[in-house]
Amino acid sequence: MYLAHAAISPASSYVRAAVAQVLHDYARRGVEAFGPWNEQRSRLRANLAQLIGAHAEDVALEPNTTRGLGDVALAIDWRRGERIVGFAGEFPTNVSPWQRAAQTFDLDLVLLPLTPWHESSEAGLDALERELSRGARLVTVSAVQFQTGLRMPLGRIGALCERYGAELAVDAIQACGATPIDVEADRIDYLACGGHKWLMGLEGSGFLWARQARAARLVPRTTGWLSHEGALKMLLEGPGHLAYDLPLLRSARVFEGGALGAMSFAALGASVTALLGLGVSAIRAHLDLYLDRLERGLVARGWRSLRSADAERRSGILAVLPPHGVDAVTTQRELAVRGVVCSVPDGHLRFAPHWPNSLDEVERVLRHLDRV
Ligand SMILES: Cc1ncc(COP(=O)(O)O)c(C=O)c1O
Repeated sequence: MYLAHAAISPASSYVRAAVAQVLHDYARRGVEAFGPWNEQRSRLRANLAQLIGAHAEDVALEPNTTRGLGDVALAIDWRRGERIVGFAGEFPTNVSPWQRAAQTFDLDLVLLPLTPWHESSEAGLDALERELSRGARLVTVSAVQFQTGLRMPLGRIGALCERYGAELAVDAIQACGATPIDVEADRIDYLACGGHKWLMGLEGSGFLWARQARAARLVPRTTGWLSHEGALKMLLEGPGHLAYDLPLLRSARVFEGGALGAMSFAALGASVTALLGLGVSAIRAHLDLYLDRLERGLVARGWRSLRSADAERRSGILAVLPPHGVDAVTTQRELAVRGVVCSVPDGHLRFAPHWPNSLDEVERVLRHLDRV
């Protein structure tokens, strides 16, 4: 029973088939395979855009969340002394790139505690508003918190940012694929996401989306041959297209730069097609039923659930803390020996099923827990 999709999804049969197909194709045809798989990546950008309510031309394929956020953090046209607001307690992916930007451009990075958000969205929003009223250029937040599974009220955070003239960046890796996200409704400016968790692809695949108007103002600190308009023409359309003064793309795609990982994006293409076929809302409803049952069983055994009582603030993650005398790390290891795979980020026992998990297995998970 696999309950660690918030860490790494296991490769599904359709992911394995897609990777095998790329390998076979490149083994047989080499450069002739480039065209069809380049097309596949265009369809993937469109499908990823659909998943977040965006347009395909604003989506860039990136190897992971870190690179997506880092590219943005170093490309914003910062002015010295501007302030970035983030949160202490988030996964370091959403802190490190902003620390780097703060050092490089002489900015102030403020990390607010996540504690008020666990009390209520209102308490969190009040604290954020106090900070915004002092002036901030950008707020950066995870759509879902990796330790507790708390779903952040992005729409309300986005509205607050808009009111105070701040940009909003989102680390979406713990949401995208299992928890609905909409860049327009949530008024997001930049969104980065890795493909190996809820999107069910492989490590080394992810994406970055940037709102058109914001992307047009970015100053990329690194570029490559594919960062330019019409870059492929010189390889496909005969003589006269080799040039070094082609304009830079004015979208997130400026960061793609060079050749992409054909296998990891073929994998992501296969998994995202399946997710869109099922629909994120249906997946979400299934996960709610699964986690409701599991949570009831865990609480009855003395574990403390960190899942919000408010349905709007829940995600695909159920994190619990152990009863007195029980160690979460030992429990996780012993469950793994028995074939129940979950994870323990920072000592929280974290269960993260996805659509292939069947509701029947919950009783078996709890029986294994009783034995360990
Ligand atoms: C909230 C969050 N962001 C980012 C990551 C990982 O980032 P990346 O895709 O850069 O490896 C994780 C987990 O690995 C995470 O939980």
